[in-house]
Amino acid sequence: MTIRAVAVGIGHYLPERVVPNSEFEATLDTSDEWIRTRSGIERRHFAADGETTSDLATYAARAALADAGLDINDIDTIIVATSTPDLTFPSVATMVQHKLGMQGGFGFDVQAVCAGFIYALTNANALIISGQVNRVLVIGAETFSRIMDWTDRSTCVLFGDGAGALILEAQTGKGTPQDRGILAVDLNSDGKYRDMLYVDGGVSTTGTSGKLRMMGNQLFRHAIEKLVATAETALAKAGLTDDDVDWIVPHQANIRIIKGTAKKMNVSMDHVIVTVQDHGNTSAASIPLALSIAVERGQIKRGELLVTEAIGGGLAWGAVVIRW
Ligand code: UT7
Repeated sequence: MTIRAVAVGIGHYLPERVVPNSEFEATLDTSDEWIRTRSGIERRHFAADGETTSDLATYAARAALADAGLDINDIDTIIVATSTPDLTFPSVATMVQHKLGMQGGFGFDVQAVCAGFIYALTNANALIISGQVNRVLVIGAETFSRIMDWTDRSTCVLFGDGAGALILEAQTGKGTPQDRGILAVDLNSDGKYRDMLYVDGGVSTTGTSGKLRMMGNQLFRHAIEKLVATAETALAKAGLTDDDVDWIVPHQANIRIIKGTAKKMNVSMDHVIVTVQDHGNTSAASIPLALSIAVERGQIKRGELLVTEAIGGGLAWGAVVIRW
């Protein structure tokens, strides 16, 4: 008998305002054509004034609870992956806990930038399989529009806001790769690459929240190789290979990275979830958003094998293998 963390509900929220690439042409030396061909992005959503990360997270959480047919008090733990919290503290998770009226339990945030949802899933899985909790609400939520330098065309056209939420529940499996739930995880980070993607402000340095800085083309060179390695390591830990994959659910940063990773894994693009055109890069929210939309569209079905992978600031990267 093996305890598995099994997905029982999923949901997402996207802010109302949709910003097409063409909107940047008025203020920057850029074009819809450049953004589309270099990144695959066509539009993104931006949060309204006063709309915070915990608001987005709360809406996504409500959708996931409704999908699972659960009440917030059926949940033991909330984990929020974010790099754009409402405040330096308290955690977004405790704000969501309060907004949803959760009595008891506990919540905390995980910060691993674009790999945040992978790190959060790993934490949730550890809490469940060690028998400490039964149900975890795992949320990826970001308002990256708040940390853009609107004069920097190399970054501000790439990111967007949104949130996705997944509920994991302890269920009994047989201990085989045929079990539903999280089958394996793989996490990595390497702080020597700090300058490739960072925010130039913070509590103990400038006292401001800062703006995002990225050496996109240098990061691009690391991305495919590291994503393939972590995805294949996670699959091997689960006793599986690339051939077993029904769906890659990648972090949605750049269509060229998504295609390059799938090609190296010999997975056809018909088996890759792609939402980057509609959302841009929503950092820790990108994977749960893509998952939720794919389930809603009827692409991902119960029992199918997913490998989800991400890389971002740190650098931090990783993958999770999950049978839906
Ligand atoms: O989610 C976290 C992880 N992040 C990533 O994985 C991002 C990885 N990197 C990327 O996705 C790509 O590197 C970018 C989309 C950021 C950039 O694409 P690229 O093909 O690597 O372009 P580049 O940075 O090498 O820039 C090519 C040219 C430069 O001009 P010159 O030097 O060739 O004259 C840039 O100045 O494109 C220029 N450029 C732009 N031109 C029009 C940069 N941004 C823009 C822009 N519009 N918005």
